[in-house]
Amino acid sequence: MKKPAPSYETAELRDFGEILRGRRTIELFLQTPVPKQLVRAAIEVATWAPNHHVTEPWVFHLLGKRSIDACLELVRQLVTAKKDAAAAEFKVQSWAAKPGWLVVSCRKSDDDTVQREDLAACAAAVQNFMLYLWKAGVGSKWTTGAITSDARFFDILGIDSQVASVVGLVWFGYPKLTPTQQRKALDEVLTELP
Ligand SMILES: Cc1cc2nc3c(=O)[nH]c(=O)nc-3n(C[C@H](O)[C@H](O)[C@H](O)COP(=O)(O)O)c2cc1C
Repeated sequence: MKKPAPSYETAELRDFGEILRGRRTIELFLQTPVPKQLVRAAIEVATWAPNHHVTEPWVFHLLGKRSIDACLELVRQLVTAKKDAAAAEFKVQSWAAKPGWLVVSCRKSDDDTVQREDLAACAAAVQNFMLYLWKAGVGSKWTTGAITSDARFFDILGIDSQVASVVGLVWFGYPKLTPTQQRKALDEVLTELP
């Protein structure tokens, strides 16, 4: 029998929780393009993430064909150097099937505390972006793979590594397959203090 809804839980709140719980990292995407206006709306929503002292430390880099092709060429070089041409071709094919590419960078600070807080704010912004898209039926994958720390990646994006760091490359598109995931039970991660 289904458990009765707890008294605090309105239908809206339950639906909101389902969006948060249901979002999964998507590996395989349909080739249906995601409307540019939706992506722009998701980026705008991302900027409402909490950020200490309202530093707004983020820059969103939405890639077009030329910059995506440059990234594919770079990943080919990286994997060829690390493994071999066949492995590189496999990776390029898999990355070429990612419909949308967004890179989020974070302004650097000489102050360690500000830097840490700004990175946390950027992570919250990425999550806003991903959740807004998820509610619209669009999945995403956040990656911090080797390419995202390569100097040539910064060059492609026009990011000065003295000025900003890359928080992540986020691929997005309509999911072909949504995997399942488990999380620890609440009581395994919650400590309640008197
Ligand atoms: C900061 C960050 C970096 C990540 N980098 C990678 C990555 O490089 N490769 C990858 O496969 N997944 C990456 N992920 C995705 C996680 O692996 C994924 O969130 C995790 O497996 C939980 O799955 P879920 O997102 O479906 O809940 C990253 C996630 C975060 C938050």
